Amino acid sequence: MNNNVQDRKVDHLSICLNREVESKNESTWFEYVYLVHQALPEIDFKSVDTSVEFLGKKLSAPLLIDCMTGGPKFSREVNSILASVARDLNIGMGVGSQRAALINPELAKSFSVVREIAPEIFVMANIGGPQLSRGFNIDDAKRIIEMVKADALAVHLNPLQELVQIEGEPYYKGVFSALEKLVSELDVPIIVKEVGCGISREVALKLEMIGVKAINVAGLGGTSWAGVEAIRAEEMGDKYKARLGRTFWDWGIPTAASILEVRSVTKLPIIASGGIRSGIDIAKAIALGADLAAIALPVIRKAIKQGKDKTYSYLKGVVDELKAAMFLTGALNINEMKRKRYILVGKLKDWADSLGR
Ligand SMILES: Cc1cc2nc3c(=O)[nH]c(=O)nc-3n(C[C@H](O)[C@H](O)[C@H](O)COP(=O)(O)O)c2cc1C
Repeated sequence: MNNNVQDRKVDHLSICLNREVESKNESTWFEYVYLVHQALPEIDFKSVDTSVEFLGKKLSAPLLIDCMTGGPKFSREVNSILASVARDLNIGMGVGSQRAALINPELAKSFSVVREIAPEIFVMANIGGPQLSRGFNIDDAKRIIEMVKADALAVHLNPLQELVQIEGEPYYKGVFSALEKLVSELDVPIIVKEVGCGISREVALKLEMIGVKAINVAGLGGTSWAGVEAIRAEEMGDKYKARLGRTFWDWGIPTAASILEVRSVTKLPIIASGGIRSGIDIAKAIALGADLAAIALPVIRKAIKQGKDKTYSYLKGVVDELKAAMFLTGALNINEMKRKRYILVGKLKDWADSLGR
């Protein structure tokens, strides 16, 4: 195990590829959402249209490959595969944190390859919240945006991960005002995302207030970064951090609940992510109020272990499943899917009821 920024990414990737890193005793809570089957959909399957417009670009499906670092060794290769799959499916993608490329400009090529391969797709640049209040300035933001000719900049908030990580930087004082400054000084839209603990309605309101253009909830139920850091701490012999990470492995707002939280206070576009694993998950997310969805872990596993064609087939399958769920609920397009009736049961129903209070 390693301890500089680049080597740490290698550890993260290797743990994500080879170990169980998803939530253990919690889930996305999409199992508490039932879309109501319609035996008379009154549409033809072939006319179901999954296309959407997002921040000025047209996508063939409401789907993004979420921001992921391939680590310095794999970055160029992984980003090339992800960009060619996103291009062929005409969906969007985010790159992983570009912090290392600011320190070591050689790494910039592993990011800029995305635009060489896919000049037209929707691309998000990426940086972490804690960096904003610790030296990252507007010129740095412009550099990382230019590096991938980004359509938007995604800022990730990861307080739990920073807390558990051995070299973590759990410094969140000043992040909000730094974010506000960034939003006011940049022309490119800013998206704020979590990395697996979800966004609450309180945070959503603050983000909307300062002009953030979309929220990626990245809720609980998929990759657990407390889990990834716990495994890494164990391997590095840090028992205290390993225990902290295990205790908080399933901490956060389940993805389905986070969509309801955010939608209860804002009309901003919502990206549903954190444990999105099928087209049914996406259809449910959209019915709950999301505009599009994003997937991380299964995509990078396919890309590195099985290559481009298998990654393409996996994501094509997800889009086909979404289309099937739309057909079976009688939704001709994504706007209709947003209005489809759903039933909430169990814990998610309790959560939704408590939002009304
Ligand atoms: C290998 C890997 C690397 C990641 N790197 C980043 C990153 O650099 N920046 C970021 O915002 N999120 C990063 N994420 C988090 C994802 O974008 C996503 O929010 C999270 O993994 C939940 O989605 P999932 O359950 O589909 O994996 C990474 C995820 C994985 C699996």
